[in-house]
Amino acid sequence: MDKKNQSDGIKRRRFLQIGSAFAASAIYLPLSGNLFGALSGNNAKISIPTVKLNNGLLMPGLGFGTNTLTGDIGERSVYDAISVGYRLIDTATVYGNEESVGAGIKKSGIKREELFVTSKLWVDDSGYENSKKAFQTSLSKLGLGYLDLYLIHRPRGDVKGSWKAMEELYSQGKIKAIGVSNFNPDQLAELMAYANIKPVINQVETHVFFQENIIYEDLKKKDVQMEAWSPFAAGRNGIFSNETLAAIGKKYNKSIAQVVLRWHFQRGIVVIPRSSQKAHMIENLNIFDFELPKSDMQIIAKLDLNTTQFPEWE
Ligand SMILES: NC(=O)c1ccc[n+]([C@@H]2O[C@H](COP(=O)([O-])OP(=O)(O)OC[C@H]3O[C@@H](n4cnc5c(N)ncnc54)[C@H](OP(=O)(O)O)[C@@H]3O)[C@@H](O)[C@H]2O)c1
Repeated sequence: MDKKNQSDGIKRRRFLQIGSAFAASAIYLPLSGNLFGALSGNNAKISIPTVKLNNGLLMPGLGFGTNTLTGDIGERSVYDAISVGYRLIDTATVYGNEESVGAGIKKSGIKREELFVTSKLWVDDSGYENSKKAFQTSLSKLGLGYLDLYLIHRPRGDVKGSWKAMEELYSQGKIKAIGVSNFNPDQLAELMAYANIKPVINQVETHVFFQENIIYEDLKKKDVQMEAWSPFAAGRNGIFSNETLAAIGKKYNKSIAQVVLRWHFQRGIVVIPRSSQKAHMIENLNIFDFELPKSDMQIIAKLDLNTTQFPEWE
């Protein structure tokens, strides 16, 4: 093997090792190469790694968050996100934007099976009958025939009744995977004790300032995928001017946003950053061509304040 091939081989092996930390069965979802031409100055392809959920479904490891993106901005942002390569779109009933998200998807012209769409059941709709109705409302607002992932947004109300309804919708093929959000280890264990179908995901607040290591380890043990909401802490606590993150980024010619997303990726966490700006959307996708060594991962680990940045939602 000549030197170049050897070095390519080592790089590839290292990349795959990270991929396998991400998910034992990570594969790479090819996206249209020319969409990224403007970014790289050539037709280089960016592939978003996927995770295999515990029911066998493949999910992109990086997607697009839509909280607060409502109305025309919501529609345009979702359209832009799909056009630059995002395939996972995260919405929720309580965001009040399912119609805008649906309009953006429709306008993109993308084939349904190429997208992975998540929505969430709000607490006011908990319980068996309410959940079924709420799901149908979400589906019709989105203009879709099925959802890829449906989550119980918060562990409140009649969670057991909601889960039963979601299991039925799953069995009928109306949802490809079901999961939860904002559940602590005990709440998740309680649900798993009566569930016939195991949740695939727990979507929780996770970022450099709130690393949630207890939940992180617990989900690994339970074989439930961790997904980070507010992967940038929604910009709080000065994340985009943090000197430690900036210094790390400088070494690899990457922005703070890219360092943060890469850190999540190397921890094996699915991320759904939100942006209303196309340039940021592209920047946030461009994290698969560098690697943070263990030393940088350890420096970032020390930024943990072990406390929520959203006390108003507690
Ligand atoms: N399950 C739950 O309870 C829950 C709760 C909250 C959120 N979520 C989900 O998680 C998603 C993400 O969380 P989030 O919306 O709270 O916030 P976030 O993704 O942590 O941060 C969004 C902020 O980062 C900025 N930003 C994005 N990319 C940037 C870049 N490259 N450089 C500089 N600034 C950048 C955005 O501004 P610009 O628009 O200017 O780019 C926006 O102000 C939500 O949209 C939602 O889908 C779920």
